[in-house]
Amino acid sequence: MISGSTTADLLLALHLLGVVTWVGGMLFAYIVLRPSLAVLPPPSRIALHRQVFRRFFLVVWHAMPLVLLSGYAMLFGYLGGFAGAPWNINVMHLLGLIMAAIFLAVVFGPWAAMRRGDDEAAPASIERIRQLILANLVLGLIVIVVATLN
Ligand code: HEM
Repeated sequence: MISGSTTADLLLALHLLGVVTWVGGMLFAYIVLRPSLAVLPPPSRIALHRQVFRRFFLVVWHAMPLVLLSGYAMLFGYLGGFAGAPWNINVMHLLGLIMAAIFLAVVFGPWAAMRRGDDEAAPASIERIRQLILANLVLGLIVIVVATLN
């Protein structure tokens, strides 16, 4: 908690809701959903991937800006900006920006290709999306640990 004010508490709550949605969604997708897809025949797997990605990326389009904007609001509203913030918040900021860049790379890279393309090209896009989501999941978990190391 940064200060006793209700606004600061609300901003932290919004920040954490966005974090839980984004990182928790990736954890579920990677660890629970992905291995479970093996029960489906390949064409159905691709169809399910299309549905899951479309919905999950729409969710992250909301969670990611929420995390960043609430983070900046706390950073500049209560902690005195980059100079006033403890080291871990600055690391969080840097890793948060990298996570956002990786998400954009997914959406405008392999996901855009998968939306345009046919099912034959889809497995390569799915594999690239898997790698990038794994990178973001690991970063997200690291950021959560870093965030608590005050
Ligand atoms: C632009 C990016 C970000 C900025 C500027 C930012 C900034 C902040 C600030 C100012 C706080 C409040 C710290 C305090 O209460 O003293 C905070 C808390 C927190 N942030 Fe971020 N954040 C960013 C991204 C992220 C991301 C991507 C994650 C996780 C994936 C994350 C996880 C957390 C957690 C778990 C806390 C609670 C820490 C605690 O209260 O001990 N943040 N963040």
